[in-house]
Amino acid sequence: MIRSAKPSDIPKIKELMKSEPGFWQDEWREDVLEKGLNSSGGLAFVWEEAGKILGFACAHEFGFRAYLSELIVAGPERKRGIAKKLVQHIENELASRRCNILIADVWEKAEGFYKSLGWSKPNVILLRKRLADKASQQSLERGKKS
Ligand SMILES: CC(C)(COP(=O)(O)OP(=O)(O)OC[C@H]1O[C@@H](n2cnc3c(N)ncnc32)[C@H](O)[C@@H]1OP(=O)(O)O)[C@@H](O)C(=O)NCCC(=O)NCCS
Repeated sequence: MIRSAKPSDIPKIKELMKSEPGFWQDEWREDVLEKGLNSSGGLAFVWEEAGKILGFACAHEFGFRAYLSELIVAGPERKRGIAKKLVQHIENELASRRCNILIADVWEKAEGFYKSLGWSKPNVILLRKRLADKASQQSLERGKKS
């Protein structure tokens, strides 16, 4: 069943995210999940069965649009409709808030999943800037000052 994610779920969510090769990024800050959950504004959900967290989805709403920041289902539990229910739960919640665009940058191999839920490619391109070097430089400088 779906329920809101809570801080005490973090170790299990982390374990789930680490179970998918390439999903967890070691350069993330220590408190990445705390920050993600706290800033989700009630849009972080888990799928739980018998005390086990089998799925996790998290979104962030900015008024103009919302961003689906994480989605993962445990390997052996895939193709049971868990991700579909998690994403549709977020879509319904956003619609009830009158936020009507949800975007995500997704793995290519998951494209079919999103398309099956009615997602489509927008007429824009996605750009990114990696700030990892900047972040490590800043933490080095902070270290020198203390
Ligand atoms: C992508 C992912 C979240 C799908 O989870 P899931 O619980 O297996 O998906 P569902 O069972 O809810 O599938 C819903 C529909 O999408 C289809 N689907 C699921 N994964 C698919 C895929 N990789 N390609 C094409 N279709 C897919 C299902 O067949 C189902 O179709 P149906 O409604 O016609 O039966 C899961 O495979 C996963 O965690 N992958 C690794 C992490 C990842 O890719 N995350 C998302 C992008 S960053």
